[in-house]
Amino acid sequence: LHSRHAIGATATAPAAEAKPAQVMNVLFGSQTGNAEAMAEAAAKSARAMGFDARLAALDDVTMAELAAMSRVVIVCSTYGEGEMPDNAQLFWEALSGSDAPRLEHLQFAVLALGDTGYDGFCQAGKLIDVRLEQLGAHRLAARQDCDVDYEEPAGAWVGTVLPLLSGTSGPVPAPTPAKTGWSRKNPYAAKLTCNRRLSGEGSAKEIRHYEFDLGESGLIYEAGDALGVMPRNDPELAARILAMIGATQETPGPDGRPLLEALIDSHEIVTPSRELIQRVEARARNEELSHVLKNGDREALDAWLWGRDTLDLLQLMPTGTLEAQDFTALLKPLQHRAYSISSSPKAHPGSVHLTVASVRYEGNGRAHGGVCSTFLADRAEEMAGIFVSQNKSFRVPADDDAPLIMVGPGTGIAPFRAFLQERRARGAKGRNWLFFGDQHRATDFIYDTELSEMSHSGLLTRLDLAFSRDQAEKVYVQTRMRENGKALYGWLQEGGHFHVCGDATRMARDVDAALHEIIATQGGMSAEAATVYVNGLKREKRYLRDVY
Ligand code: 2AM
Repeated sequence: LHSRHAIGATATAPAAEAKPAQVMNVLFGSQTGNAEAMAEAAAKSARAMGFDARLAALDDVTMAELAAMSRVVIVCSTYGEGEMPDNAQLFWEALSGSDAPRLEHLQFAVLALGDTGYDGFCQAGKLIDVRLEQLGAHRLAARQDCDVDYEEPAGAWVGTVLPLLSGTSGPVPAPTPAKTGWSRKNPYAAKLTCNRRLSGEGSAKEIRHYEFDLGESGLIYEAGDALGVMPRNDPELAARILAMIGATQETPGPDGRPLLEALIDSHEIVTPSRELIQRVEARARNEELSHVLKNGDREALDAWLWGRDTLDLLQLMPTGTLEAQDFTALLKPLQHRAYSISSSPKAHPGSVHLTVASVRYEGNGRAHGGVCSTFLADRAEEMAGIFVSQNKSFRVPADDDAPLIMVGPGTGIAPFRAFLQERRARGAKGRNWLFFGDQHRATDFIYDTELSEMSHSGLLTRLDLAFSRDQAEKVYVQTRMRENGKALYGWLQEGGHFHVCGDATRMARDVDAALHEIIATQGGMSAEAATVYVNGLKREKRYLRDVY
């Protein structure tokens, strides 16, 4: 077990206690770093209580190690539609397997982080919780499922669960995740110093480059981190919604401010909440909607909702059907959006860069837009609230000599621009290979000047491009990977790291399949042996993904 915080942990045990401190394992499965930060905070609290707290990612724990543990707190997030985070997949494979060990000596409690906006809310935590019980482990506290506003309930839960695991009475103070100062609850109002379009005229996409000035904020980030951005809604959309519920500019909102203001900066008014959908269904007498809801067919509902926002739903009912009070109670709080940072602080001190595709589409006879991407493009003008969302598991290799293969089509290039800047600033000698692509070379080869320079200077040993729509047949990044399978396998055999960023459901899945195939072909292995090889890469943190 790689216990990052084992050093000095026992030193915090009460001095009077002669026997060694009890071991408390705090394990996390984390995709974007929230669960990891929460686990760190829990370990800190446990240490303050006199435990020998040991923090580790779930994937770093073998079944034999788990079976030898007596106390674990598991903090696990869910990503995508109910999936395990990347650093919990190997653990889950082993735990859910038929040869998983009995865990009769284990006391456990699970904290699940999730997002009620997705299917499979807290699914990863739920699965682990149920499976541990099946294997005979003793559940000390009911699982806590947390929505995006997790800090408070999660902290309170940890505060009541740790005493249960120690046998002491009374709750301990709730832990708070380590703060860098600026956070989701307290974002830094940063100056937007650059907003320029990267993709050319005529591209199907509007990809933009943004730069924020960090000023005197003291805000610190690392290549691989994400930037949280607090959006504001489109005032025009908010005004139209206001009119649909029969309210006026003077109507007060739930917090006493004008409702219009609250709709602009406090509530989610683009994506309709489930509660709102249900309420509309109950009042609107829309046969299609009633049908998909009655069938409980999630895909059919998603298909029906495609391209429809809150205003579209309200328009299914007569104006004023919902009272202002009723309506706001059905809305979710407006959340930040997180984007992979595309700069290295070593190359751009005092500044942070983003590479973001603006989400825009037509529907119901009017323009629709993504909340935060259009905020950045059209409405951030000079200022936006930002904070760093650490992603400690997505980093340039610690070994500067290690070869690095990066697959990042479209905006997936963002963290790799940061990684390349980082490696250059560090003087890292390791070879770098980038796979990039998009629809058309003429309009979508973003950062082409920078990348060409990086190739010429030798920073990029290889740059392989895949423009899918410049020829009759589709050419994707994985096509280029396959064409260069021998070299790719060679890099891996020489200790290479393989990093992927971008679309999770199609690209990252197909790139994963291509990776397996290349290893099997080039290494002369069976499919099973290739999977073992890939799992080895994951375990050694040489196969990392930042996918969404
Ligand atoms: P396409 O839209 O022409 O099919 C960035 O969006 C790039 O990813 C585009 O060139 C897009 O191609 C491509 N893309 C679409 N599906 C993909 C997949 N399954 N694997 C890899 N790239 C894909």
